[in-house]
Amino acid sequence: MKRIAVLTSGGDAPGMNAATRAIVRKGYYHNMEVYGVYHGYSGLINGEIEKLGIGSVGDIIHRGGTVLYTARSEEFKTPEGQQKAVEQLKKHGIEGLIVIGGDGSFRGAQKLMEHGILTVGVPGTIDNDIPATDFTIGFDTAINTVIDAIDKIRDTATSHERTYIIEVMGRHAGDIALWSGLADGAESIIIPEAFFDMDEIIDRLKRGHKRGKKHSIIIVAEGVGSGVEFGNSIKEKTGFDTRVTVLGHIQRGGSPTAFDRVLASRLGAEAVDLLLKNEAGKMVGIKNNQIISLDINEALSQKHHVDLSLHQLASILAI
Ligand code: F6P
Repeated sequence: MKRIAVLTSGGDAPGMNAATRAIVRKGYYHNMEVYGVYHGYSGLINGEIEKLGIGSVGDIIHRGGTVLYTARSEEFKTPEGQQKAVEQLKKHGIEGLIVIGGDGSFRGAQKLMEHGILTVGVPGTIDNDIPATDFTIGFDTAINTVIDAIDKIRDTATSHERTYIIEVMGRHAGDIALWSGLADGAESIIIPEAFFDMDEIIDRLKRGHKRGKKHSIIIVAEGVGSGVEFGNSIKEKTGFDTRVTVLGHIQRGGSPTAFDRVLASRLGAEAVDLLLKNEAGKMVGIKNNQIISLDINEALSQKHHVDLSLHQLASILAI
């Protein structure tokens, strides 16, 4: 394989640039030409494809966002859109494509495989919701952003002796809520994957209040419902001074952590090696700190599981 391309798709994630850099540089190491597709599948359909030189990915390893830009393309979901994308790849002589993104982006890669384009998926999403990998690129940075915000909220929560409900991202998965909640000693962590009992949450808050706790933090994953509604309900049931913070897209930005940069470099380089060996239709991932690869269809047929032992531990520790 002599000419490959890379695109980023779906919600951006810190570390996508480090992965793009690794793909370009590993490609050149193997004497390949590497092209960048701008604006995800949407740009692929429109032929926004340019050759990336070694220098074009300099000075990006530390930058959040994605220099290739990203998009969620409705047109690519149609057979006509996919056909246009295939034609563009053929027109540019591109033999293999690496897609950095989440599960929706991987499904897109599978569609291209069905049209004979060799693809490899690199998991990049702050949600950490891709099965078959312990971590996705961007998750570590996102949880560090969340705990930084919660630490700040904790200061004002203590000063005013308030209860804070913090809504974090994670459309279908509670990983961001769970890891940041455990890291920050939240009273309760409400995630889609675990049953929650509102009475128990209220009792816990009241117990803490009684023994003189100066503040309380409850983390709600957006996949469970609105933080504002939880806040209203908690305020009504406890009478405590309660505030709600929705962290929103701040969680998607910022310079990637060392962990995300290293993960992105390892996964990006492995994706190139797979294409070189014509092992396409696969995704790369990390399991027990080992870089792995497996069939995308097999990966997508699995269910992503949060580590519920962390939820239990958080609950025990936040007596
Ligand atoms: O998938 C990443 C994610 O940040 C989710 O956590 C969130 O629900 C969604 O993207 C938000 O998407 P958008 O930026 O399109 O509003």
